[in-house]
Amino acid sequence: MKAENNPYRPGAGMSPPELSGRDDLLESSRVAFARLRNDSPVKSIIMHGLRGVGKTVLLNKMFHQAEDKGVVSIHVEVQDEKASLLNLMAPAMTSALDTLSQKTGKRERVAGAIDFLRNSVKAVELKAQAVGSLRVEMHDKKVSASEDLDADLTELLRAVGEAADEQGTAFALFVDEIQNLPVNSLESLIAAIHRANQLSLPVILVAAGLPQILEKSGRAKSYAERLLDFEEVDNLDEDAAMAALVLPAQERDVEYEDGAISEILEMTDGYPYFLQEWGKHCWNAAPRSPISVEDVRRATVTAQAALDANFFRVRTARISNSERGYMRAMAALGPGPYKSREIAEKLGRDVSSVAPVRGRLIAKGMIYSPAYGATAFTVPLFDGFMRRVMPDFEGTD
Ligand SMILES: Nc1ncnc2c1ncn2[C@@H]1O[C@H](COP(=O)(O)OP(=O)(O)OP(=O)(O)O)[C@@H](O)[C@H]1O
Ligand SMILES: [Mg+2]
Repeated sequence: MKAENNPYRPGAGMSPPELSGRDDLLESSRVAFARLRNDSPVKSIIMHGLRGVGKTVLLNKMFHQAEDKGVVSIHVEVQDEKASLLNLMAPAMTSALDTLSQKTGKRERVAGAIDFLRNSVKAVELKAQAVGSLRVEMHDKKVSASEDLDADLTELLRAVGEAADEQGTAFALFVDEIQNLPVNSLESLIAAIHRANQLSLPVILVAAGLPQILEKSGRAKSYAERLLDFEEVDNLDEDAAMAALVLPAQERDVEYEDGAISEILEMTDGYPYFLQEWGKHCWNAAPRSPISVEDVRRATVTAQAALDANFFRVRTARISNSERGYMRAMAALGPGPYKSREIAEKLGRDVSSVAPVRGRLIAKGMIYSPAYGATAFTVPLFDGFMRRVMPDFEGTD
């Protein structure tokens, strides 16, 4: 069928044609934003899950929910472990403050916050222009962050929270890839949110990240669990996965044979990214509706080639040879999870000598620890990819 009519959307952060199986999560965020506007206490939300399960898409959706409710919102993505939170927040924060300043007759509070931002974010030289609206310009992003991040972030969230409160509105900070924040920044962020809650200010953090954020935030602040709602974002169950495939096609008068659906569900295991990839390739492979089992089988070949060329390869771009070897040893053991001892044995090494490699792979988001002493890939079907790209691996048995 014609590619130009293809409804499926594989790709990082690409909003799917049918955002399936997430009604409960979206309902709790909707309630949280409404409560925030009513001056009722809310917990911040941290969504965690493996790569490609749809965290970014949900975060974006929640951002729009918040904006629709009139909550002043900013969004940042922590791209790597070297990121400075204040640097990342500064541009969006200044425009949020700008919005707040335009809404209010009294500008002192907002001006105060902008002043604060200018003084505290040493990394970024900000210039407030008092002419017309309060506008802020960035001059220099290179210098490292302020030394007392705890105090700075607390002060900043307090300032923006008070400004929002004065307006009868609220403020939401959206953070994607939050697992990349260094522990001390995470610690400061949690402390700042905690302080804003204590002051009953209408401030919420909504964040998304890989599963290691659970352990990392516990390590950052022992009270993190009481302050934050951790929501797991997982593969879609059978009904939701089916809806993700069938509904977008139905809108274009295209059906699937029953066997075709079960074949796709089996290949993808309800993993949202793969549902989009298989949906896309099935559509292109099928000459007409209904999409048949044979169409799916042909699509599987091209879908897998596309994953190998893009999705998987992008994820291994920053991986060293020893890290690659570690992942290949995992793959030799099947789909996982794996015991650290088994992986080390496969490499012919002892556990402690490969522990640093494992640590680096966790930091890069390639693998994670689902339970003590266990290791798993953060992406499904990754073991097959490793075997295909490194066919000649000779582990020790
Ligand atoms: N609920 C859903 N139903 C159907 N498709 C979905 C759903 N959620 C996400 N997708 C699709 O899955 C893909 C990955 O989504 P997204 O980029 O949000 O995942 P992610 O969890 O943020 O991944 P990463 O950890 O790599 O950033 C996209 O192509 C998106 O369209
Ligand atoms: Mg994402």
